[in-house]
Amino acid sequence: PAGGAGAPKRIILAEPRGFCAGVRRAIAIVERALEVYGPPVYVRKEIVHNHFVVRSLESRGARFVDSETDVPEGAVCVFSAHGVSPAVRSSAAGRGLEVIDATCPLVAKVHQEARRFARDGRTILLIGHADHEEVEGTYGEAPDRTVIVESVQDVAALDLPRDTPAAYLTQTTLSLDDTRGIVDALRARFDDLVGPASDDICYASQNRQNAIKAVAARSDLVLVVGSTNSSNSIRMVEVARGAGVPAHLVPDVGELDEDWLDGVRAVGVSAGASAPEILVDQLLDRLAELGYTEIDLETTATENVVFNIPAGLAAGSVKSR
Ligand code: F3S
Repeated sequence: PAGGAGAPKRIILAEPRGFCAGVRRAIAIVERALEVYGPPVYVRKEIVHNHFVVRSLESRGARFVDSETDVPEGAVCVFSAHGVSPAVRSSAAGRGLEVIDATCPLVAKVHQEARRFARDGRTILLIGHADHEEVEGTYGEAPDRTVIVESVQDVAALDLPRDTPAAYLTQTTLSLDDTRGIVDALRARFDDLVGPASDDICYASQNRQNAIKAVAARSDLVLVVGSTNSSNSIRMVEVARGAGVPAHLVPDVGELDEDWLDGVRAVGVSAGASAPEILVDQLLDRLAELGYTEIDLETTATENVVFNIPAGLAAGSVKSR
């Protein structure tokens, strides 16, 4: 509990929060593709896992589809930040699509590692959520020699000999605390296990989790702005709860339940890597109406990572089709 009954009600605002470099780049790619090619620009899957972002790009001429097979032959198709499998790439090529790849460079790095481990003849233990698009894409690099593990229990259930040459990789948006336990279990399970050259958990996921931990330590309640299908936002809620503080995902301000604020003096606020700042502003405005008028910034890191958009799109010319 932060502050006595007489203290003003306050917001502890996490920094860094919100958009990461991969999300900024993916959105910029769709915006730029709309300028260069004109609408419609097809986007395979949600460009980033945020409904507000998807709706606003839709209103400007982006068309979101579930599969590259839903895109008319020869049309422009953007691959989302979460990456795609080689099978999707060749299916798109087969349809003659003009592909623009918005895969986050940090996801692309994991794909590269998967290809290297597969070439080395290793079985890949991919730590992540089987139904997440990023994991589907990475899995697709070497489906014959990849096994997805979601938990320590999954490791125990693996039907592989101890001396299997193995390698592990992780989804970029997990929590380091969760993956550590699974990696430890894998080390105990296999004699010949190697890992990625550097951690796969991305800087943005890690920074947002560190910030939410610091925020939770000063808060009675934590609110994370983010969509329900945003992996990194869900991890942030879990990290706050792990610190012993009630925490909720707030996809938009309309879904704030005022009962959560009962007796709360200090409310922590952050946003997942795919959540735009305007949604945070709306939540802060609503909280101000409810008496949370002071804002304390809790800064745990400074970010200056920028990922450039592909050179072909960055150039000035407008393409005719
Ligand atoms: Fe990339 Fe991490 Fe953002 S993998 S898209 S920088 S959350």
